[in-house]
Amino acid sequence: MQTELSKKLGVEHALFGFTPFPAVAAALTRAGGFGVLGAVRYAAGDELKRDLDWMQDHTDGLPYGLDVVMPAKKVEGVTEEQVEAMIPEQHRSYAQEVLERYGVPPLPEGEEGGWRITGWMESVARSQLDVAFDYPVKLLANALGSPPPDVVERAHRHGMLVAALAGSAHHARRHKEAGIDVVVAQGYEAGGHTGEIGSMVLTPEIVEAVDPLPVLAAGGIGTGSQVAAAFALGAQGAWLGSVWLTTTEAELHSRRLTEKLLAAGSGDTVRSRALTGKPARQLRTAWTDAWDDPEGPGPLPMPLQGLLVAEANSRIQHHETEELLGTPVGQIVGSMNSERSVQAVVDDLTRGFERAVRRLDRVAGNG
Ligand SMILES: Cc1cc2nc3c(=O)[nH]c(=O)nc-3n(C[C@H](O)[C@H](O)[C@H](O)COP(=O)(O)O)c2cc1C
Repeated sequence: MQTELSKKLGVEHALFGFTPFPAVAAALTRAGGFGVLGAVRYAAGDELKRDLDWMQDHTDGLPYGLDVVMPAKKVEGVTEEQVEAMIPEQHRSYAQEVLERYGVPPLPEGEEGGWRITGWMESVARSQLDVAFDYPVKLLANALGSPPPDVVERAHRHGMLVAALAGSAHHARRHKEAGIDVVVAQGYEAGGHTGEIGSMVLTPEIVEAVDPLPVLAAGGIGTGSQVAAAFALGAQGAWLGSVWLTTTEAELHSRRLTEKLLAAGSGDTVRSRALTGKPARQLRTAWTDAWDDPEGPGPLPMPLQGLLVAEANSRIQHHETEELLGTPVGQIVGSMNSERSVQAVVDDLTRGFERAVRRLDRVAGNG
């Protein structure tokens, strides 16, 4: 599974993995792929530094990347308190009402509610970058838009490649104009923030739109034959996010959530604004249903919704409330039916890829 891009990055397989867990990113890199650590959950540079130190110690000098979130629409010049004050009372009481309906107790005393606005603020992403530039990060990826020109320039000066996610050919062209080196074409099936175009249509469209830039196909990839399909569509690699969630190295902190993922079918996700205010694919739960309910107040725009539901999500996770427990995940969840190590996932992907290539060879009359 070698492409020009994988050779340039010095990895054995053109398999890229986004993950919020350092143990998964490091294991993928050690397995011959390219682990990309998601930084959005790090509120402060110190925590990121601790985990990048850990990555350094556990990747045997092999390459890895970092993914930051710098939204094209910036959240700047306002404090968290000011944003908090913009949340209508109606939405606050609706969130409480749903939690009460399912009997979700408060967090234990002293425990802080999780994921706040800060991870979406450019100043926070920049402080993360100040830390990251001290490490031999080989690829810097950005979700939700092209990173600002000075960040692209700084990354290039540090010898990093810059990647950006795109859900349409139009977005991909903008990345190219912004001097990005690698475009991740992320289809509708994908977990997390996603657009409306399926990978089968999107990948070749973006390959053509940004030629000769390398494109990674993302969304709906979890088997070797899907990796082969990505290459057939012109991608120089596959970028996987969901499949790592049920690996033994993942730290989901909830056994019930792992079990829900293992049991879920490909139709059990929904593209909903319930989590952040922007459409993001996630497990469909009574919580997403409540926010998508036309009788309810509906979700607020980003970043208000993320702030509104931060504490609720922590409570749901802490108490493992079955009906409400969810996570971003893509349609490929239907194929995630057993817990495997990252190495075992990579072995299955490479073996499945070889089988798919042999099948194609036979179809082409070569085998
Ligand atoms: C739990 C989860 C969190 C994600 N968070 C981010 C993120 O912070 N930044 C980002 O660039 N992509 C994020 N993504 C999207 C992934 O980078 C990737 O493009 C996507 O998962 C690929 O599709 P798949 O889920 O079908 O594998 C996330 C995906 C998942 C499943």
